[in-house]
Amino acid sequence: MAIHGSFSIKPFVSSTRIIFGLLPGLGSLILLRMVIHLYRPDIEDAVNRVRDHPFDELYENYDFIIVGAGSAGSVVASRLSENPEWNILLLEAGQDENVLSDVPIMFPTLQTSSIDWQFVTEPSKYYCLSMVDSRCKWPRGKVLGGSSALNAMLYIRGNKKDYDNWERLGNEGWAYEDIIKYFLKAEDMRIPEYRSDPYHSTGGPLSVEYFKFEQPITNKIIQAGVELGYRVIDVNGEYQTGFTKSHATVDDGLRCSTAKGYLRPASKRRNFHVSVHSLVEKVLIDKYKKVYGVKFTKNGKSKIIKCNKEVILSAGAIQSPQLLMLSGVGDSEHLKELGIFPVTHLSGVGQNLQDHIAMGGHSFLFDNPYNNGSDYSFNLNNIMSIPSLIDFALYKKGPLYSMMEAEAMGFVNTKYQDPREDYPDIQLFIAPTADNMDGGLFGKRANGLSDETYAELYEDILYKPSFSIVPLLLRPKSRGFIKLRNTNPFSPPLIYPNYYSDPDDLLRMMEGAKIAQSLVNQPALQELNARPNPNRNPGCAEHPLMSDEHLECQARHHTLTIYHPVGTCAMGPAHDYNAVVNPRLRVYGVDNLRVIDGSIMPTIVNGNTNAPIIMIAEKASDMIKEDWVASSNYLTTYAYRSFGDTKANNMEFRNSEDIVKTPDVFTEIKSLFPHLSDNHTENDSKTKQDTNQLDTRIKSFGKRLQSLYLTNITNPMKTYQTPILNNIHFDKNKSNSFTSTLFRPHRYNQHSIIESRPNQSHLSTQNQNVFNHSDIDTSAIHRSIIFNRDRTPSPPPAKDYKNTLSDTKKQIYYFNTNERSFQNDENKECRLWLHYNGVQYEIQL
Ligand SMILES: Cc1cc2nc3c(=O)[nH]c(=O)nc-3n(C[C@H](O)[C@H](O)[C@H](O)COP(=O)(O)OP(=O)(O)OC[C@H]3O[C@@H](n4cnc5c(N)ncnc54)[C@H](O)[C@@H]3O)c2cc1C
Ligand SMILES: *[C@@H]1O[C@H](CO)[C@@H](O)[C@H](O)[C@H]1NC(C)=O
Ligand SMILES: *[C@@H]1O[C@H](CO)[C@@H](O)[C@H](O)[C@H]1NC(C)=O
Ligand SMILES: *[C@@H]1O[C@H](CO)[C@@H](O)[C@H](O)[C@H]1NC(C)=O
Ligand SMILES: *[C@@H]1O[C@H](CO)[C@@H](O)[C@H](O)[C@H]1NC(C)=O
Ligand SMILES: *[C@@H]1O[C@H](CO)[C@@H](O)[C@H](O)[C@H]1NC(C)=O
Ligand SMILES: *[C@@H]1O[C@H](CO)[C@@H](O)[C@H](O)[C@H]1NC(C)=O
Ligand SMILES: *[C@@H]1O[C@H](CO)[C@@H](O)[C@H](O)[C@H]1NC(C)=O
Repeated sequence: MAIHGSFSIKPFVSSTRIIFGLLPGLGSLILLRMVIHLYRPDIEDAVNRVRDHPFDELYENYDFIIVGAGSAGSVVASRLSENPEWNILLLEAGQDENVLSDVPIMFPTLQTSSIDWQFVTEPSKYYCLSMVDSRCKWPRGKVLGGSSALNAMLYIRGNKKDYDNWERLGNEGWAYEDIIKYFLKAEDMRIPEYRSDPYHSTGGPLSVEYFKFEQPITNKIIQAGVELGYRVIDVNGEYQTGFTKSHATVDDGLRCSTAKGYLRPASKRRNFHVSVHSLVEKVLIDKYKKVYGVKFTKNGKSKIIKCNKEVILSAGAIQSPQLLMLSGVGDSEHLKELGIFPVTHLSGVGQNLQDHIAMGGHSFLFDNPYNNGSDYSFNLNNIMSIPSLIDFALYKKGPLYSMMEAEAMGFVNTKYQDPREDYPDIQLFIAPTADNMDGGLFGKRANGLSDETYAELYEDILYKPSFSIVPLLLRPKSRGFIKLRNTNPFSPPLIYPNYYSDPDDLLRMMEGAKIAQSLVNQPALQELNARPNPNRNPGCAEHPLMSDEHLECQARHHTLTIYHPVGTCAMGPAHDYNAVVNPRLRVYGVDNLRVIDGSIMPTIVNGNTNAPIIMIAEKASDMIKEDWVASSNYLTTYAYRSFGDTKANNMEFRNSEDIVKTPDVFTEIKSLFPHLSDNHTENDSKTKQDTNQLDTRIKSFGKRLQSLYLTNITNPMKTYQTPILNNIHFDKNKSNSFTSTLFRPHRYNQHSIIESRPNQSHLSTQNQNVFNHSDIDTSAIHRSIIFNRDRTPSPPPAKDYKNTLSDTKKQIYYFNTNERSFQNDENKECRLWLHYNGVQYEIQL
């Protein structure tokens, strides 16, 4: 990270804060990981996790080989493996999901981790100008679940007209009335008011809920939308124009990736093998232009596996075209340049790239109407704090369940769009946070915003209550493309998004920003004295704030991808020169090859892409079944078996020993976040000096970030001691005051919670979670968390069970957020231990 001393003081300060502000730091992530292992076996889901099939035990051939276990590939694999007569192999370059990706608050942190491919766009003079090297980051999931394992979980189906347009382009069977059933097939709607709505269904693999945690400001912004004349509606229902709290693909508040929703339930089928860390290098095509298999590499070893029926590319909009080109399917001129023998000339491969972009920097300040210390919007200090960890661990609630980048959204019309069409051209993401509120830890880091820009825009409003309304251009006219960098399958391809190459895109985007501003002018937000960030992007400082010149400049500088690249293997009829696949998603010019993922969209949908891609995969799975059933009588028996009916597939139960092993969280988390250093205190003295330039709040915050680390302070405990259950209230004179939670391990590591009780004798036999010492699995012996507090004022003594819990929480809350506690940690210490794998760790705050 460059320090630009000559520029001005602001960028300098900004860089140093990022250096010490490594939060979510490795320590806190390891802590969260430990807590999940100890308290949230539902997240570990050890029994159902997908198991990697050993390399040497893979068959020589399969009926279907699916490349990429992303949003689409997971669906296709699970649906095709419903037919026990077919053998299915799913090859995924990445690893299994990490438990941390289940936690919604982790969303921005997953980007740039090892489950992200970390693509970047090629530099441009017209967009992404405020990003480091004028390159936008393009995260993509490299993991089971693909991008659905690191996306923002927003569930949006797009607009009816999108699909009717696809059909009009010559894609029979893709009209809205044809495809709606596949949205329904996938869905398990959990929002009560929509469960029996004709536009929704229940029982599918993909659960849809509201996020569990939300901030009060979000409702105010929705109210402003109503004041502006929009309705609050189900944007996935009959009409799209309006506002709503975000529908999310979460399951009891936790991420529901396609790996979780589709793969885990299917992965025990005997006819289905999953191989992770397996990068497909090439699709193998014989001289009759018939696909016969793939070549892939796992841990440095290569293998060829053949297919009896088809190879299906579900590698996503960047890598499906890359693989086609590497295999000789693409524009023959481009392939020849690289020395690749062109099997089939298909000029559309990699072309027609469309993405949703937004204008960043649209943050607004407001005055917190609460003066009792409660938050009205995102508050970083309360996120990775011990109380929120406890809420998460014990009560399945709290800010770790928040997806603060888009708690709500609106679909609105600019002046260029006739509102009667119900085909909104701008989507607004409503966030109870803004880049100034996290000190650059989330948004800045994930987007790759330059230090200079961050400093100029936010340095003097850091941590002030803010929100953002981010306008996204729904139907861009600009088209980009993807090309091979070289013939190495491990090299990322070249990405040229060509944002704003069509001037209409810019005009609409500018109008979108004005709509955001007019929302802020509504009474609901004026009550809170909402106002725009007065700072201007340093690249646009010469233009008056909110002038057209300024908005255009801001759009080109603060360009944000909303991560929806699609269209690079477009579906189209045979006469469409640019089409790569036909309406049954078969690749033109070669046999036995389909592409099923976001790349087949001929035009981008009017909203987020995950649900539409899952719909595409559901429909494609049925098409494959239909196509092969036509040539086999036998298959009709199985081809339409419903998802849940796995009885025909013999279930394999796993060796429980395999599962209860305590994970080595240190190695695991370090390898997931290799870019976060665990020895970041290396530059301690330098950092301390720099922090003197920051205001007190930032200083105390930085202090906390630095000192949240885990220390192994004891040898493994020899004997199991039941933590004292009744002594929850804090007795100033006692050094050991505890509250604790115990788990009774079940078979296959399914624990259930025995809740904290003020007195152990209250642990009645009223339910199955009876505490029974003799029932305790010794491997889980130290699964207790102990909160201990010294040298602190006495709170009122605990009266009953309920009050006890909240008092406990309040106390810890108090100690963590009291500013003075960070200036003098000798006097204000919250001491906390955690027992993990027989070792006691001290957590210092
Ligand atoms: C950060 C982020 C936030 C997003 N937020 C939302 C949102 O809130 N709502 C929404 O609807 N959409 C969102 N999206 C978009 C959505 O998640 C994607 O459009 C969708 O997941 C893409 O599905 P896919 O099947 O086309 O590709 P992917 O899900 O990306 O799957 C491709 C898979 O193929 C694997 N692969 C690639 N190459 C190879 C190879 N050579 N060999 C083996 N495997 C390979 C990859 O590792 C990956 O697992 C977001 C995306 C991102 C990245
Ligand atoms: C502060 O006031 C708000 C609004 O009345 C209330 O919802 C919140 O619970 C209060 N917080 C505290 C800590 O009392
Ligand atoms: C941290 O420690 C490792 C191993 O000791 C070392 O290689 C590295 O240079 C140190 N610093 C950073 C910033 O990682
Ligand atoms: C520590 O400071 C040195 C010199 O400024 C720098 O090269 C190094 O990257 C810094 N380490 C970390 C972890 O920031
Ligand atoms: C913790 O410390 C003990 C005693 O020094 C040591 O034996 C043990 O390996 C340590 N555990 C970890 C996880 O570092
Ligand atoms: C705590 O200890 C002090 C001195 O040892 C004593 O005076 C005080 O009464 C004790 N308080 C309680 C609540 O026991
Ligand atoms: C728990 O409560 C019971 C009766 O309420 C009492 O007899 C017992 O001593 C208490 N146990 C402890 C450890 O305080
Ligand atoms: C505790 O568990 C043991 C072994 O599972 C069982 O024999 C015993 O009856 C249980 N005790 C109670 C009180 O449930």
